[in-house]
Amino acid sequence: MNYNFRVQVLVAALVLPMSVLTAYAVSDGAPERLASVESFASIPDEATRSAAIFTEFGKVLTHPRCMNCHPTSDRPRQGDARRLHQPPVWRGADGYGLPAMRCPICHTKANFDPAGVPGNPIWHLAPLEMGWQDRTLGQICEQIKDPARNGGRSLEALIEHIREEPLVSWAWAPGYGRQPAPGTQHQAGDLIEAWVKTGAVCPN
Ligand code: HEC
Ligand code: HEC
Repeated sequence: MNYNFRVQVLVAALVLPMSVLTAYAVSDGAPERLASVESFASIPDEATRSAAIFTEFGKVLTHPRCMNCHPTSDRPRQGDARRLHQPPVWRGADGYGLPAMRCPICHTKANFDPAGVPGNPIWHLAPLEMGWQDRTLGQICEQIKDPARNGGRSLEALIEHIREEPLVSWAWAPGYGRQPAPGTQHQAGDLIEAWVKTGAVCPN
């Protein structure tokens, strides 16, 4: 009896939080599309066109799949409602969490669909200076092209990051029950490249 009780408590402790958490992860709604670079050709003024292209790209940047890892605090967010991460975790010195709660303890090399836990070999939080949460798209735009706040990247490196970075790729393959970022990674790469070629003008 004592043993059974303990087993029950153990099962409840392990299973309950997981099921509560994964229940939140399921989202509906059709995946959003991205407009093609060509569809901006009718805007004659190049600066206006550049800002319009960035605004379209902003659908990706401000999507919860990207935003949840780019907070302006020390805690990641979860789900489409971008609620604070449960269980509570903090960025720690290197973005991989405090010593007792490292991201890879739960976030393994790949998505673990049975428990709804996303995964990637380098799963960790973007540095604080790369936080976007609660900022306007214009502010985010200025920030991501500023080498002092974007990890010392040139505009070319920024294009490459959007086209190839594994954590960016994850946003289009986020695992069961999670809505992917809009469009495709390829389209997002084309948009940011077109934005750079038209002078990298920020909206507003
Ligand atoms: C104790 C386990 C655990 C640890 C440690 C942990 N996570 Fe999570 N994390 C989860 C679970 C479970 C989910 C899925 C929950 C959900 O979405 O409802 C999740 C989801 C996320 C998401 C949401 C993805 C999305 O778009 O919905 C992000 C971002 C995230 N974790 C970042 C981190 C980071 C960064 C760290 C380290 C600083 C970390 N996590 C540490 C368990 C953990
Ligand atoms: C699992 C967390 C995670 C997810 C998901 C994620 N990022 Fe990041 N992002 C990071 C980390 C960590 C860095 C810093 C990498 C570095 O500097 O080497 C970063 C850096 C960046 C940078 C370069 C720095 C800057 O702010 O200009 C861009 C651009 C970027 N991410 C875009 C995106 C986009 C777009 C998405 C969604 C399609 C996304 N990220 C999803 C963690 C994440």
